[in-house]
Amino acid sequence: MTTLTPTSELALPGGSAPPGLPDVATLTRLAGEFFSALPGGLPKPTAPQALGGVPAPANVLPGGTSTGPLTQGPQLPGTLAPGANVAPNNPQSVLSLGASTPSLQPHAAAPNGLPDTAVVAAPALDSRFGGQALGVPQVAAAPSAQPPSTPSTPYYFLGEASGYPSTGPAVAAPRDDRVSAQSFGLPGADELRALLSSSKSPAGSQAAAPAGTGSSYYFVPSASDSVGGASTPLPHQQAAQRPAGLDVNAVRRDFPILQERVNGKQLVWFDNAATTHKPQSVIDRLAYFYAHENSNIHRAAHELAARATDAYESAREKVRAFIGAQSVDEVIFVRGATEAINLVAKTWGVQNVGEGDEIIVSNLEHHANIVPWQQLAAQKGARIRVIPVDDTGQVLLDEYRKLLNPRTKIVAVTQVSNALGTVVPVREIVAMAHAAGARALVDGAQSVSHLRVNVQEIGADFFVFSGHKIFGPTGIGVVYGRRELLDTMPPWQGGGNMIADVTFERTVFQPPPNKFEAGTGNIADAVGLGAALDYVQRIGLDNIARYEHDLLAYATHLLAPIPGVRLIGTAADKASVLSFVLKGYTTEEVGRALNEEGIAVRSGHHCAQPILRRFGVEATVRPSLAFYNTCEEVDRFIAVVRRLSSGRG
Ligand code: ALA
Repeated sequence: MTTLTPTSELALPGGSAPPGLPDVATLTRLAGEFFSALPGGLPKPTAPQALGGVPAPANVLPGGTSTGPLTQGPQLPGTLAPGANVAPNNPQSVLSLGASTPSLQPHAAAPNGLPDTAVVAAPALDSRFGGQALGVPQVAAAPSAQPPSTPSTPYYFLGEASGYPSTGPAVAAPRDDRVSAQSFGLPGADELRALLSSSKSPAGSQAAAPAGTGSSYYFVPSASDSVGGASTPLPHQQAAQRPAGLDVNAVRRDFPILQERVNGKQLVWFDNAATTHKPQSVIDRLAYFYAHENSNIHRAAHELAARATDAYESAREKVRAFIGAQSVDEVIFVRGATEAINLVAKTWGVQNVGEGDEIIVSNLEHHANIVPWQQLAAQKGARIRVIPVDDTGQVLLDEYRKLLNPRTKIVAVTQVSNALGTVVPVREIVAMAHAAGARALVDGAQSVSHLRVNVQEIGADFFVFSGHKIFGPTGIGVVYGRRELLDTMPPWQGGGNMIADVTFERTVFQPPPNKFEAGTGNIADAVGLGAALDYVQRIGLDNIARYEHDLLAYATHLLAPIPGVRLIGTAADKASVLSFVLKGYTTEEVGRALNEEGIAVRSGHHCAQPILRRFGVEATVRPSLAFYNTCEEVDRFIAVVRRLSSGRG
C-alpha cells in the first residue's frame, strides 16, 4: 500500500518558503506523485481494508435526521453512527502537521511588577501550516467491500453501527464555519486546501458502517463489551490508534448546543474547563435509558432491572477500558471528581494518615484537591506540604523531591491545571511518591478530555475524574483505585447496595466497587458517561490532543502580543487553557464584553485561589478550549480583546 509521508518528514528542495515550510509547488508535486501512485492514477478514496482494517468513517447524523429550518445539510446515508466520521481514514488527513514545534516568544509584561521570566510557547508557523486546526475537509469514505453489517439493535449508541433515526431534536448543520489558516497569513494555505478537497471521493459514495460488535440482545455482554475486564480490544480502542485527522465541522454537527445564539451571535463556548457540551449520542442515550431501560439495578429480577443493570455495568467496563484499569472492580461511580477525592480522603485517608504524617499537594491544585486533605489533616493532626511551581506554572520536581520523607503518606496532584492549563508530569511524581513509600492520587478532571490516560502507565494508586468535563452528564464521576487498596479500605457511606448481609449485630459488606456505592446511584448518567467515552474514542484522544494543541498554539500566538495582556500560565506543556488578565479592565469586565459577543469564558478564581495568588492575581479571564472549537472562534475572541486593549471597549 502506498502511504503518504507526513510533510514534516519530507526531504524538501530549497525554495522561497520559510524554513521547514514546503512551498505550494512542492506540495502540489508531492501530492501529484502520491495520487498518481494510486491505482488508476486518480485521487481515490481508500478502502478501509487498505488502512489496516480501520473501519471507514460513518456519518455524524442518523439517517433521516432533519437539519432544521436554518440550514439544509447534506443528505446523509442512513447506516451511519453519530460521531464515527470525525477521524477521516483517508490519506489526505496524513498531510496534517499536528505536532507543532513550539517557538519561543516574549510574553506581555506583568502589569503588577511581579518578576515573571516566563516565555510563551507559540506555534512555529510551518508546523501549524495545514495542521489539525485547519479542519480536515470531510471526505466520504470508499464504499466498503463488505456490506454493512446488519444491526442487531436499532439504537446506534448501544455499541453498534446501526443507522436508525435519532430520537433527538433536529441538529442544524453549521453554515460555512470551516476554520481557516488565513488567520496566520500563511502562504499557500488556500492551495493546500484546494489540493485536499480535490481528492474528495465522488459524491454519493457511502461511508461504511463499522462492523457490529454487540450481541443480539444489547444487555447481554458480548465478547467485546463484557462486564468483567475484557482484554479483547474494543472497536473504539482500535479506532483511537488510527493516524488520522479531525474534521471539526463534522464534530460540531454532533453538538446541538453549538448552534445556540447568545446576544444575537452564534455561541462560542470557551468555558470547557468548567463543563463541556454533550454530543447528540449522549443526549439520545439518556433519553433511551429513561424510555426503555429505567429501573433500579442489582436487585429486582425482572426485565427492566436486567436492562438497567447491564447498561450501568457496561458503562463501568467502558470506563475501565478508557482509563486502562485492570478490572471493573477498580472503577467506582461517584458524583464527580470532588466527591471522588473526598471518598479517598475519608476512607483511605482516615485509615492511613495519622498524627505527624504529611500529605503533599501541588500549588496548582483545584480547591477540591486541597480542602478534603486539609480536613483530614485537621482531624488527624497531619500536615499539608505544597510542591511549588516556577514562573511558567510548572511544578518544580527538585523541590518536590525535598518534600518527600518517611512521614509522607500520600501525594495528590492534578494532571492538568484547571486555572493555568499546565500539564503536570504525573508519572514522575507518582514514581517518586512510591519510591518514598507514599501513595499517589492523580486528579484527572481536566486531563481526560485532552490527553490519552492510562492509569497503569501513570502508576497511580487513585485516579479521579468527572463525567461532565468529558462530554458526559453532570452528577457522575469516577474513582479508580488499585484493587488491593480498595479491598482493605473501609466503606464510606453505608446503606443499601453496598452490603452482603445485615443483622442488628453486624454488617458484611460487598467487595469493591459496590462497597463504595451505597444507595441508588446515578444510573442513567453513568450510562450517559459510557456513551460520552464511546464518542471521544471514536474521534481518538490522539487526534483530539493534536487538534487542541494547534488551536491552543494559534490562540496563544494571537493573544500574547496584545498590549496589556498578561498570560498567567506559560508552561511549555499545556492543555486547553489560556488564563490572562488585561491591563485597565477587571476580569468581570472582560468576561462581560466577551459575553456580549456571544463568547462564553469563565472569569474569576476558578476554584484555584492558591495558584492565582502565586502569580499575584485574584482572578483571571479563562478561555478554555475543546476539540469542537475553531480558529474562527478564536479570531472572534481575539477581536474583542484587541478592541478592549486599544481602549475602544
Ligand atoms: N473546576 C471547574 C472550573 O475549573 C468548575 O471551572
